[in-house]
Amino acid sequence: MKKRAPRPRKKPDVGASLRDLAKLARRARRLAHAPFSRFKVGAALRSVSGEVVTGCNVENASYGLTLCAERVAVFKAVSEGIRRFDAIAIAADTGRATAPCGPCRQILWEFCGDIWVHMDNLRGGTLTRRLSELLPLPFDRRNL
Ligand code: THU
Repeated sequence: MKKRAPRPRKKPDVGASLRDLAKLARRARRLAHAPFSRFKVGAALRSVSGEVVTGCNVENASYGLTLCAERVAVFKAVSEGIRRFDAIAIAADTGRATAPCGPCRQILWEFCGDIWVHMDNLRGGTLTRRLSELLPLPFDRRNL
């Protein structure tokens, strides 16, 4: 019988380290719906109180309506009333670390601020940056 991938942990994961967070991102990645690109991504977003909300990329036949793993995690968290974050881990099977795409950087900046972004390539390679390094000189509500 085919073994099913375990579902991402639902319970809050208080005090998870970035390595633990990456593990949750890798687990979330297995649920990715990526029949078009076959590029699966998982994300695990940690709130300041230690709750972890995961996300995976969800594609559709129009391509353009695809949601990246990072935005799924942010929108899930916001929809559950979780508003303050300190880190996100992103997991994808690549040689070079998969950094969030431009639109995700914008959404992460507006909802999470200058959080840690921890990238894991499933091959032992990791890269950790502040979001402000990935999105210098951001546009946000201070401009309006
Ligand atoms: N993708 C993500 O989910 N996150 C990223 O950081 C990069 C790209 C997804 C979108 C699409 O489903 C697939 O990866 C290929 O671009």
